[in-house]
Amino acid sequence: MEHVRVGVIGTGRMGQRHCRIFSNLRKVQLVGVYDSNPVVGYKVAQQYDAPFFDNIDELLKQVDAVSLATPTFFHHEQAMLCISKGLHVLVEKPITRTLDQAEALVKAAEESGLVVQIGHIERFNPAYIELKNILEEYQPLSINLQRLSPYQGSNKDVDVVMDLMIHDANLMLDLLKKNPTKMSAYGLTAYSGTIDHAIAQLIFEGGPMLTMTSSRLTEEKIRKIDVTCREAYIECDLLNKSISVHRSTFGEYLNSNRRGVKYRQEGIIERINIPSFEPLFLQLQHFVDCILEEKTPYVTAQDGYDALKLTLYIRDCICEHLINMDRRKTPRVDTPSIMIEPSVNVSSPRPN
Ligand SMILES: NC(=O)c1ccc[n+]([C@@H]2O[C@H](COP(=O)([O-])OP(=O)(O)OC[C@H]3O[C@@H](n4cnc5c(N)ncnc54)[C@H](O)[C@@H]3O)[C@@H](O)[C@H]2O)c1
Repeated sequence: MEHVRVGVIGTGRMGQRHCRIFSNLRKVQLVGVYDSNPVVGYKVAQQYDAPFFDNIDELLKQVDAVSLATPTFFHHEQAMLCISKGLHVLVEKPITRTLDQAEALVKAAEESGLVVQIGHIERFNPAYIELKNILEEYQPLSINLQRLSPYQGSNKDVDVVMDLMIHDANLMLDLLKKNPTKMSAYGLTAYSGTIDHAIAQLIFEGGPMLTMTSSRLTEEKIRKIDVTCREAYIECDLLNKSISVHRSTFGEYLNSNRRGVKYRQEGIIERINIPSFEPLFLQLQHFVDCILEEKTPYVTAQDGYDALKLTLYIRDCICEHLINMDRRKTPRVDTPSIMIEPSVNVSSPRPN
């Protein structure tokens, strides 16, 4: 295959960004877009000089690969449709709404041999990639992941755990390559009737300790990973794409003047330069490269399943004791999608 013919399904906030990048990528032809709302779809199609299809099947006949940027509710049905037609597919995160759907998709992806990639975009964030490199040299004792946003402009279709914390669940599983042995999670609702602010604490055998905080109640947008290691304290800002490594030198006693002995210890801050690539560009470029070079994607359907499983588990724990600080509503606690005995470890069907 010389180039990849791509279609985008769902042209809302994310789908539009996919169209912008696909229309600029080498070895890609943006064949067209489909959206169940023709007004939205037609407008985006015009903007990126691609035809609008008012019938999904017609679009699927003309492409090799699809980006699925529809609401999560439709991911399972539409991804299965694409796979059944032999099309490679990039599914926006979360992989699906339920774990059963995700499991079926993992199986279909593996059996098909097609490229099925999940849109966990932070895995392509250059700051995260550099942090991973740095952590090859250090032993993390404690990790603190923060993903905070203002309420205005945030996605209210799902709670903050499914919307934001799932990103960090995916990063954490990728970083540590093991599942937590213990977990506690708490959350509150302030406006939406569902979880608006959540904290999860996870313990891993042999360490580290890990805290994830996700919120849509903060005035400032923050995306951070702070890692305390034996040798250094590392601050990684995923939003502004910067990393600082704090180290201290060994202290020394100086016998310098008549006033007596002086103690001196220096703190060193190393600021690491991060290339300023757009994570979505890297993610979609990788999807296309995997198709052209017949490679396994960096974020597979199984990774999507694992992140969803942990996230649903955290959500179910929070929903048991959701703190209601919403003055107007009674909480709209979503029915737990999976029930796992609280004492049972979160483990994936894939051996670690
Ligand atoms: N990777 C990220 O950082 C990130 C960020 C935001 C959203 N997302 C994910 O992207 C997906 C889309 O989110 P969004 O914020 O763009 O939503 P959105 O509501 O802005 O857009 C969804 C679009 O899909 C269309 N649509 C609805 N049902 C459809 C159907 N059955 N077939 C075709 N089109 C349909 C809607 O008309 C709309 O234009 C969600 O799964 C979301 O979780 C990912």
